[in-house]
Amino acid sequence: MQTEHLARTFVEYFEERGHRRIPGSTLLPPPGDPVLFTTSGMHPLTPHLQGRPHPLGRRLVNVQRCLRTTDLEEVGDATHLTVFEMLGTWSLGDYEGPLSLDWAYGLLTEGLGIDPGLLHATAYAGDGRTGPDTASLRVWEDHGVPVELTVEDNWWSNGPVGPCGPDSEVFLWSGDGPPESTPTRDDRWVEVWNHVTMSHRRLDDGSLVPLPQRNVDTGLGLERLASLLQGEPSVFDCDVFDPWRRLVPALWPLEERPLRLVCDHLRSAVVVLGDGVRPASTGRGYVLRRLVRRVLTVLWRDDPSRGLGDLPDELFRHTLDHFRQDMSPAGVLQVLIEEERRFRRLLERGRQVLARPRFRGPLTEEDFHHLHDTHGLPRELVTTLRQE
Ligand code: ALA
Repeated sequence: MQTEHLARTFVEYFEERGHRRIPGSTLLPPPGDPVLFTTSGMHPLTPHLQGRPHPLGRRLVNVQRCLRTTDLEEVGDATHLTVFEMLGTWSLGDYEGPLSLDWAYGLLTEGLGIDPGLLHATAYAGDGRTGPDTASLRVWEDHGVPVELTVEDNWWSNGPVGPCGPDSEVFLWSGDGPPESTPTRDDRWVEVWNHVTMSHRRLDDGSLVPLPQRNVDTGLGLERLASLLQGEPSVFDCDVFDPWRRLVPALWPLEERPLRLVCDHLRSAVVVLGDGVRPASTGRGYVLRRLVRRVLTVLWRDDPSRGLGDLPDELFRHTLDHFRQDMSPAGVLQVLIEEERRFRRLLERGRQVLARPRFRGPLTEEDFHHLHDTHGLPRELVTTLRQE
């Protein structure tokens, strides 16, 4: 099943259950949201989760692009991407979590044909303040799906402050043999769908206050589920990566893990650019700059003559079209080439500066500050150059 078909099946299933489709937003969260980028489908809905009525009602569904910098180090494994798409559903003070789980079971098994024996769930075990999530536990038990109870892994929050609550996650077995163990003990259990009962808001001082309404906020990782349904070993093998997987290795022979990183980061950089962000030394622009520099670091490790100017137009066009972005492929390429030039110059300067006797031994905090403030060399770059 192609990702587009999967997304359509998901949206239609929830439309049949009274949900209205809302358009996906860009990667830039609404003003006042504490994060740099939209990391989850709920960001554009934050005011409505906090009580403001939504013009389309209390049952919503959408497809939202998201970006997670928290997962950067894991990119290259079978399941993590920097930019990915989340299929989301919401009950804004309407139905409760158990009904949402019941529908999830129906869509996964009957709608998408997944063997129920390959499912596992997790639910909130409770802590000193609140009891265990027995309602979710009961739904899963009724369907014969095994459940693991956890505390930390089953409380979802939107950054340090904002809406949060207990969640129940659905995992799909990706191993070759029959399922074994549990999601926290065996990473062949892949998390595909999270159902949060968004009941509280965390304030600046860390305290929790109840929201004016109890919401359900769910998010399903599109590329993850698509790759499992397509019988592929990783998210990089699902159809959305088709041109990247075909054209990048033809240009630069790379081992599997660095190839995945290069494809992920370049594709993510295109999406970020398409949403209007430009490279900068702080904030969103710095995330973009880091993505490009991480790619170049990998490419130049084997061959410093490699350059982003060789990337075929088709890659940019495919990604910009997929996310319905207006930027031209030539515009993307131009920014990438400028960034590459800037990074080459910075590396040359960095090597010269670090060759000075003062920086030969172990570096102190003061050295790092000096290198950054006087020579424009970020700590991450200094560390990389010292490993050369
Ligand atoms: N907001 C929840 C998540 O991102 C659904 O996992």
